[in-house]
Amino acid sequence: MSDRPPFFVIAVDGPAASGKGTIATGLGKAFSLPVLDTGLLYRCVGVLMQKAGEDLDDHEAAACAAALLTADQLNDPALRTRAAGEAASRVAVHPRVRDALMEFQRTFARQEGGAVLDGRDIGTVIAPDAPAKLFVTASPEVRAHRRWSQLKAQGERVSQEDVLADIRRRDERDGGRDTAPMKPAPDAVLLDTSEMTIDHAADAARRIVEAARATWLSAN
Ligand code: C5P
Repeated sequence: MSDRPPFFVIAVDGPAASGKGTIATGLGKAFSLPVLDTGLLYRCVGVLMQKAGEDLDDHEAAACAAALLTADQLNDPALRTRAAGEAASRVAVHPRVRDALMEFQRTFARQEGGAVLDGRDIGTVIAPDAPAKLFVTASPEVRAHRRWSQLKAQGERVSQEDVLADIRRRDERDGGRDTAPMKPAPDAVLLDTSEMTIDHAADAARRIVEAARATWLSAN
């Protein structure tokens, strides 16, 4: 009898505006799997803290906010702002916040059939056994341009230089923290989207995952 788990998890990690969100959505459609943007969880904790007037460096208050988070809070458009991204990265350094959000993510990953999760530590911490792992990158300049275009479309007025500075600061904080730093899992496939259109990147990702799925199906 096969001891293959009944779920196929696709882990999509990478820095801000690398294209991982669009890639994860495309993979969800291609493989008929639900998708969780795990960045929204951290954004939600940051926004809840700010609304309550709490200090983002207060790890106890942040852990309480994380413990109370529910799925219906993740649709708030306020989570998509530049300020929410910065707040998310500050609360994401607290180990107790990460612990509080872990079960939600693991439960989502282990649903019947499987799931796609995008974030920073999916392939390393949340789903280290995922049979398909991608680490999506792009140069800071390309990512800053993409994020600036998104923010502009949302009505946020900000210069590209300021967005580039945000991206560099977040890369440093996310990659340098002690707990679950952003880094590729040893078995992740690296996908640099700097020179790719989003359709090209989504297509490349789908082919990588198709190969991983074939290996997973034949392994047991
Ligand atoms: O992906 P997104 O830009 O929405 O993530 C916002 C922030 O949340 C990141 O900069 C990172 O600090 C944090 N995050 C994380 N682990 C994840 C997803 C997001 O630490 N799995």
